[in-house]
This record gives sequence, C-alpha cells and structure tokens, in this order.
Amino acid sequence: MKKSFYITTPIYYPSAKPHMGHAYSSISADVIARFKRLEDYQVHFLTGTDEHGQKIQKAAESANKKPQEFCDQISKIFFDLTKTLNLSNTDFIRTTEPRHYETVKQLWNILLKNDEIYLSKYSGWYSVSDEAFYVDDEIEEIDGIKKNIASGSLVDWVEEESYFFRLSKWQEPLLMFYKENPEFIQPESRRNEVIKFVESGLKDLSISRTSFNWGIPVPHDDKHIMYVWMDALTNYISATNYFSNEKNNNFWPADIHIIGKDILRFHAVYWPAFLMAAKITLPKKVFGHGWILSGDEKMSKSKGNILDPIEIINEYGLDELRYYLMKEVIYGQDGKINLDNLKNCINSDLANNIGNLSQRIITILMKKFNGILPAINNLTKNDSKILNTDESKFIDSMNNLELHNYVRQIVNFASDVNKYVNDEEPWNTKKNSNERIANILYVVIESLKKIFILLHPIMPEKSENFLKCLSISNENITLNNFNKKLDIGLEITSPGILFKKII
Ligand code: MSP
Repeated sequence: MKKSFYITTPIYYPSAKPHMGHAYSSISADVIARFKRLEDYQVHFLTGTDEHGQKIQKAAESANKKPQEFCDQISKIFFDLTKTLNLSNTDFIRTTEPRHYETVKQLWNILLKNDEIYLSKYSGWYSVSDEAFYVDDEIEEIDGIKKNIASGSLVDWVEEESYFFRLSKWQEPLLMFYKENPEFIQPESRRNEVIKFVESGLKDLSISRTSFNWGIPVPHDDKHIMYVWMDALTNYISATNYFSNEKNNNFWPADIHIIGKDILRFHAVYWPAFLMAAKITLPKKVFGHGWILSGDEKMSKSKGNILDPIEIINEYGLDELRYYLMKEVIYGQDGKINLDNLKNCINSDLANNIGNLSQRIITILMKKFNGILPAINNLTKNDSKILNTDESKFIDSMNNLELHNYVRQIVNFASDVNKYVNDEEPWNTKKNSNERIANILYVVIESLKKIFILLHPIMPEKSENFLKCLSISNENITLNNFNKKLDIGLEITSPGILFKKII
C-alpha cells in the first residue's frame, strides 16, 4: 500500500473574489502535493471556503444577499479557481456543509465533556476583518481610531456572554510540544514568534458569540454561535470523517497545514490546544509562508492593490505564473511581484533557457536521426557528468520546503545542460562524428526528461506536453522514472514551441 500524505490550504473567506495572495497559498500547497505524488505517496489535498462569522454576514448584507446565497455565489468562484489554477486537490470543503456541522458539534461536545469549556462574559477588543480577539497591548490608536498593530485592522469593543475555552491551561503543554517537536512550526523565525507569544501568557479564549447569528449554533444553547475560527479550523478533520466509524478513509493527522503568516496564531496555538484538549493527535507541521506584496504592502482587498490572477493567467499563461511565483518568492518570506519581473522570468528561464534547449535538440534529432533516440558509445567525462545528475538535491530542497531553491536548482541544471550543448556543438558536423552527435543528443534528451519530471509539480501542463513526446504518460511521471533510462530506438516527437517569448 502507498504511504499517505495529507496537506491542506487555508480555507478562504468567500467575502470577495480571490486575489494573487490566495492563489499563491494554493499553488504552493499544490506544488508540494504534486511533488509527494512524484515520490509515490497517496496524497489527500484539501482546500475550501470558510463561510461563517460576522465578516461574511456583513459582506452579505452589503451585497443585499442572504448569507447562504452570498456564500454559494462566492464559494463557487473559489471552487472554479481550483480548476483555473490546475490544483490537484482531492476535496473542497465548505463550512456550510452538513459533514462539517456534525464534526464541529462533536468536537464541541467532547471539549465540554472534558471540562475544557465554561460560560462567562467576554469584554475586550474584536476585529471583524481578522475575526480575532486582541488584548490591550496589541491595539494602537491612530487619529482616534483603534486598530490592531500587526494587521492594521479596525477593532471594536465587545461585551457579551460567551463560552470560553480553557486555553490558559494549555500554555505549558504547548511550550513542551514545541520543544519536543522543533519541526512543528516552520520556518524557524515563525516558530520563535509563536513561542514568544505563548510564553507571554495565554488567556482563556472566547469561543462563542451572541450578537449575530451566521454560524454553527452551540449544542444545547443556540442563542450562541461558535467562534468562526473554532468552526473553521475543524474543517481539517471534518474532511477526514474523523468521528465516523469508518476509519478506513481517516487520513488524519495532517502532514502539513500550509497557511499565510497572518493566521499562524490560530494554527500553531489555538488549533493544537483544541486538539490536545480533545485528545486528538496533532498535525505534524504548520508552515507559514510570507505575503505577496504589491509595492511594499500586503496585497489585500482592503488596500485596493490587488493583482488579479485570472487576468495574469489569461495574458501570460498558468504554468508561467506558477513558475514565477514559486521561483521568485522565497518560500516563508514576503515577496514583491510585478509584471516586468514576470516577463523577464518567462523570457530568460522558460523561453531562452528550457524552451530553447528542448527545441534545438529535438530539431537536430529529427534532422539527423529521424526522431529516433540513438544508441550511445564511449561517453566522455563531460557526458557522464551531465548524464549522472541525480535527484537528491532537488528532493532535499522540496522536503525542506525550500520551494524557491527547488525551482532555482532546476533552472540551474537546465543552464548547465545548455552550456554543455554550446561546448559540444552537436550541430557542428566538422567537429563531431555522427557517433559523437548521437551521444550528445542522448545526454541532453535524458536531461530534458529529468528537467520536465522535476518541473511537473510546478508546471504540470508543460511538463505533460513535453514528456508525452518521450512517450511518458501522465501516470508515469514519477521519480521512479527519473533514473530509468529511455529506450534506445524510442521515437520522439516534437513538442513545438513550449514557451512563447513575451515582447
Ligand atoms: N478563513 C481564514 C483561514 C481559515 S483556515 C482554517 C482566512 N481566510 S483569508 O481568505 O482571509 O486568507 C487566507 C489565506 O490567504 C491567508 O492565510 C494566506 O495564506 C492567503 N493570503 C491572503 N492574502 C495574502 C497575500 N497578500 N499574500 C500571500 N498570501 C495571503 O484567513
């Protein structure tokens, strides 16, 4: 049986249509999911929409729609985006689905039974935009307006009856867990941030609201609805049928939650505390990536500085955008993106380097050997060096979640192969015998096979198009085939122009 791997994206608020930041989170998770499939894992990849809470209720009101109708409409746009981005997700969860309601209620009941929940009164700051409670020293006042310092979101003073989760009780167990599982929060800098926050003291967490009603009712007390983050985080187990008796499709615990750094506290503090309190196994890893910046600011609807992924895909192509985002932004850090850089990247890496390499070699192969992969004899040191490039450094980068390095190493490998071609000059019949040309073409075509297998998680469609020309079908795009040599005598077809230059 295959080993299984469970990866999730954040579930997105369907309060407005998706932007590049959302696309980035999802694409990066997709790249990891697809890489694990290359490694022959059975991958469960979950994404979806987070549909309850005050933020959504307000957005629906402003659009003059009932919340459910409003969510149906915008969730569909996020669902369609999974297709547009060619995500390989195996599930799409909506928190308004019955399977989710049932799981959330069961989790609540377990916490209640374990005496982890009590009724009291909340008075403090709340940000609807972040759906988060803040303490005094997280608030600043600018021109008479109170805001959260980190997110810049407006906060309101809230006083209402509320159920509380005994978060304070979990401060020490959480710190112990972080210590014993240093890989749990990544990257390292984020881990330190979380530890500092927990060490500064955890207060019990308000987990229900009474001042609006768009949410999951608290069992046995339906004037309360559950705090939207408690509801939302549970999606990760709802999708695994966690509480069902049919354990055969229960792939919990998650191997990794991919999230943006803005929602680290919820995933690395509240979520593990809920799970510990319910005696449920914790996820193995939470990775907080950085923000996509527009100029120096986070791209977000409220700042009005949004790059629309769909417009960019229509103009430059999906795989090109996926490649650019993964290469350009250091995974884990903030990254600025802009159209000039995107064009440069397409022209230099894709069209000039990888595309040109494929095209010129296959053209020579067609001309000299009618597209048939020739046999090789007497390899030189230079041939062997390129031919023996192994997969280890690529695997290491990906498994260390250095997605940017993974891509950069692939393009460096392609540059090395290009240099080899320029040095060896397979077109130069004065310099090279037919036997020698055969060797060079063989070495390059084997290398192109490796390059396009490695590129599959990043640019699935381009990779499939190229590998089809080597008779490698989609199910055979795996790391097992990385070192399996192509058959001598294989008939190779031309992929045509893989990457168009942008003028
Ligand atoms: N609904 C919550 C998540 C619940 S998960 C149980 C939420 N939704 S969100 O739609 O506001 O944002 C979700 C994620 O989108 C962020 O965590 C982040 O991963 C991504 N991004 C949104 N804007 C972004 C950027 N400008 N840059 C990169 N990613 C950002 O929070």
